[in-house]
Amino acid sequence: MAQVIDGKAFAAKLREKVAAEVAKLKADHGITPGLAVVLVGEDPASSVYVRSKGKQTVEAGMKSFEHKLSAETSEEELLALVKRLNEDPEVHGILVQLPLPKHLNSDLVINSIDPAKDVDGFHISNVGLLGTGQKSMVPCTPLGCLLLLRDLHGSLAGKDAVVIGRSNIVGKPMAQLLLGDSATVTIAHSKTKDLPSVVRRADIVVAAVGRPKMVLGDWIKSGATVIDVGINRTTGPNGKDVLVGDVDYDSAAQVAGAITPVPGGVGPMTIACLLANTVTACCRANG
Ligand code: GUN
Repeated sequence: MAQVIDGKAFAAKLREKVAAEVAKLKADHGITPGLAVVLVGEDPASSVYVRSKGKQTVEAGMKSFEHKLSAETSEEELLALVKRLNEDPEVHGILVQLPLPKHLNSDLVINSIDPAKDVDGFHISNVGLLGTGQKSMVPCTPLGCLLLLRDLHGSLAGKDAVVIGRSNIVGKPMAQLLLGDSATVTIAHSKTKDLPSVVRRADIVVAAVGRPKMVLGDWIKSGATVIDVGINRTTGPNGKDVLVGDVDYDSAAQVAGAITPVPGGVGPMTIACLLANTVTACCRANG
């Protein structure tokens, strides 16, 4: 059976490290890192994430600024808020929760954030910096996956990595990070021919497609590491809501060398990395 990668414990350690850095910034420089989170509308999943982000930000000793706007907010109003946050010296990180309501242009909004405060790493200039191997803000979920992989493997150089999914939030930046660590990277997606045989080549599989239990155990090479980014809400056998990943955990755990569970794998790493990115942004802003 595969080793279970304990993302929850790893994230707790990372949050402790962040809290220690925050305490040092306060003691040595009188600076408290601040994170502003903007939520437009009342999508229930987004509301849960935003609440959790605010709570963990405060627990790490940082300032949390929550801006909850109505679903009818105009683009002009949202852009005006981002501009205020860009100019606010107490705010070191800005996160606009996605998805935005359909009448708002996400690209325009994201690209209006000061790239130095873009703790999501979604601004086009951060995307370009990451793609060219320059210092950037790195998207939180792929960064969390990378930290788990480095902890497990040490060097990723020469590993065959297959990323399933090509989203701007996870798949594409994940591929860039793996490439940055000298893995041999394949990006697979819904149009990939014979996906099972592509996945079977991989020493490292990162599944980020948003389809419950799509990746089956017999797609996994014996001993491979499986990182499951999926968080899919489905109905369990008892009629209750359950969270499942993009990987069929029970069959994959029979063959994999190591695997992240859902929940308790990648999920907790995302917010921990967001906090770490906020401290990074704060340090860079203050030289
Ligand atoms: N929605 C789902 N994941 C994310 C994320 O990492 N950042 C933001 N801003 N929105 C999201």
